[in-house]
Amino acid sequence: MAERKRVLVIGGSGYLGQHLLDGLAKADSETPFDLAFTHHRPIPPPELIDAVSPVYPFRVDVRTGEGFESISNTFGEPHVVVNCAALSVPRACEVDPVTTMATNLPTSLINWLSSFKDNNILLIHLSTDQGSKSFYKEEDETAPVNMYGKSKVAAEEFISEHWSNFAILRSSIIYGPQTLSPVSKSLPIQWIDSILSRSEEIEFFHDEFRCPVYVKDVVNVILALTKKWISDCPAAQMAVAVLTIEAMNLH
Ligand SMILES: NC(=O)c1ccc[n+]([C@@H]2O[C@H](COP(=O)([O-])OP(=O)(O)OC[C@H]3O[C@@H](n4cnc5c(N)ncnc54)[C@H](OP(=O)(O)O)[C@@H]3O)[C@@H](O)[C@H]2O)c1
Repeated sequence: MAERKRVLVIGGSGYLGQHLLDGLAKADSETPFDLAFTHHRPIPPPELIDAVSPVYPFRVDVRTGEGFESISNTFGEPHVVVNCAALSVPRACEVDPVTTMATNLPTSLINWLSSFKDNNILLIHLSTDQGSKSFYKEEDETAPVNMYGKSKVAAEEFISEHWSNFAILRSSIIYGPQTLSPVSKSLPIQWIDSILSRSEEIEFFHDEFRCPVYVKDVVNVILALTKKWISDCPAAQMAVAVLTIEAMNLH
């Protein structure tokens, strides 16, 4: 019997990670796969576990790599890894550049993946769209305007140099419903709604071009890449790619 495939979501307890796990758990795939995720908070979100079970949660600190070993020992070496772990709030990144670089550069993740006998693993990594130019193309020069952006560019470069099978997805602001286990960070639509419902006035940016993306569209892109890889692998080689999500035809 063919070995079941294994999909691992790093940062599965976050906003995108939870929506992605929900999508993966419901996915109708020709090739069945097992699902695991990492969290950094001490306890994995119970509502998430209940909703997407069976799933294997692991506590990992991506800054040090602590916790990765127990994934390979218990769950096994993954076939697809989606990296959603990050310090994702630009303001928080600005005040702590050292922690930002340590978290957002996937050094410990790639070191762990590189230790496997079989390194034909697809790494899907989330990046961002922030820069000084509007509606840029993937091949345009990157020009990060803050610490968050700098860490994302450094991560893209690090992955390109150290891993062969990858897809880097540059997303703009992700919007959508709250997660199965609510996240504490401010969400764009919910924040705007709370301001409007209190009839408050607020300062809002007027000098940025953004292309907000619905969270389930981001999930669908990741699902499509995952399904393709686990059904064709190892016959297929994923073309190394940096993709801007809003530029993709999702439907
Ligand atoms: N949301 C957006 O609008 C947006 C837009 C463009 C790109 N992105 C990118 O998409 C990805 C996912 O974003 P998101 O909104 O889902 O982020 P998020 O809600 O802030 O989630 C971040 C995840 O990273 C984990 N994490 C943080 N520090 C960690 C550490 N030291 N070790 C291990 N895990 C750690 C968190 O774990 P705990 O929660 O358990 O602490 C959480 O699971 C990120 O790379 C982000 O930069 C997001």
